[in-house]
Amino acid sequence: MSKTDKKYKLTPYLSKQKIDALCKDLAEQINEDYKDFVVKGPEDHTSPQLIAICILKGSLFFIADILRHIKIPFIVDFVKLSSYGKGMKSSGTITILQDISTDIYGKHVIIFDEIVDSGRTLSFYIERLRSAEPKSIKVCTLIDKKICRSPESKIDADYVGINAGEEFLVGYGLDHAEQYRNLAEIYQLKEI
Ligand code: IMP
Ligand code: MG
Repeated sequence: MSKTDKKYKLTPYLSKQKIDALCKDLAEQINEDYKDFVVKGPEDHTSPQLIAICILKGSLFFIADILRHIKIPFIVDFVKLSSYGKGMKSSGTITILQDISTDIYGKHVIIFDEIVDSGRTLSFYIERLRSAEPKSIKVCTLIDKKICRSPESKIDADYVGINAGEEFLVGYGLDHAEQYRNLAEIYQLKEI
């Protein structure tokens, strides 16, 4: 380790048990809102009217956990967006590293993002999705840092697990410079 390496302290923020309960609760709200499309059991299939979009990389565990509670046929797709670089503040420049390949025209879209902060990433991406003319676009997030929303961002999440403050969080897909994503629980990260 070089002398310039920073040191960080991790404080428990959300337990695995709490994360599981929040995912189940969010899925139940979605099942209720889209109840016209709910199927009776695993053998009952209709053509999916719902597109579930996972914002990579951070939402990989969140979408995997939540989709297992969804009782509606859906197509899942992935978009890889980048805005953070290596720091704890969003760079403000959003890059699409890999886009979805599903035709969303006339379909209901739900975007799954593990955390919404300034809202710039989702504002940018939702504008793009609108040009493909989906029937509706909703946003589901585990953690909403609503007080951090930038003034120009028009994002209001439709499904919110918990509201958070300005703290920087890691674990359960959330990273700091690509570290800590694999932790099963969520922690607050502070430089010491
Ligand atoms: P926004 O554009 O500022 O809303 O940031 C969106 C993305 O930044 C999220 O989907 C996360 O990937 C990342 N992000 C925001 N807050 C945090 C945090 O506290 N820890 C780790 N990543 C974060
Ligand atoms: Mg994310």
